[in-house]
Amino acid sequence: MKLRFLGHATWTVEAGGVRLIIDPFLSGNPKAAARPEDIQVDYVLLTHGHDDHTADAAAIARRNDAVVISTFELAHWMAQQGVRTHGMHLGGRFRLGDGYVRVVPALHGSGVPGGHAAGFVVRLGGVSFYHAGDTALFGDMKLLGGEVERVDVAALPIGDNYTMGVDDAVLAVDWIRPRIAVPMHYGTFSVIDVDPEEFRRKVQARGLPVEVRVLPPGGELVVEPREPAAS
Ligand code: NI
Ligand code: MN
Repeated sequence: MKLRFLGHATWTVEAGGVRLIIDPFLSGNPKAAARPEDIQVDYVLLTHGHDDHTADAAAIARRNDAVVISTFELAHWMAQQGVRTHGMHLGGRFRLGDGYVRVVPALHGSGVPGGHAAGFVVRLGGVSFYHAGDTALFGDMKLLGGEVERVDVAALPIGDNYTMGVDDAVLAVDWIRPRIAVPMHYGTFSVIDVDPEEFRRKVQARGLPVEVRVLPPGGELVVEPREPAAS
């Protein structure tokens, strides 16, 4: 799986014959590492309806004829903007390429009336990527530690104020036990200006068998499956 961090909470994922972008916020993002017109994807995944997650969603979906995947209420709101959508909801999986996307809970505002905030587990090419969205720490993250999903890479917000801060995110890493944890949703604005190295230090100090990768905007991560895929 090839993951690219484009700044804030924006990621592209390529694996298993699928290209997708999660939470495209490039226009108006001081840390954006790409231009919306350069994004080539089959799907646009949206965790929730706040501007710093949806800013370029409609334009990217329209230009690529890509399908927007989100919770039902946000998918409906996007459909009204004239893009193709696929509505899901918390706990559900939808087949994608050689794997699936699962919508998982997040504790945050939805940004649309009656909606829910969410995160995603994207499983493609034998690798599972958890994008937590914007969220508080909550105990059911433990279900991603092997019972419901086994996460290879976890992208977790650490910026505080709107989401988990560093200490809560360290606890999330302890519960989820990914192979690799990547901090996100920090530094974009002064109110969420925290030090990602503090996150790295505290994960290490806790003795967790987890590699913390602090990616600059534009940084890439190529992740192989844990075990060779059964044929
Ligand atoms: Ni938000
Ligand atoms: Mn946000």
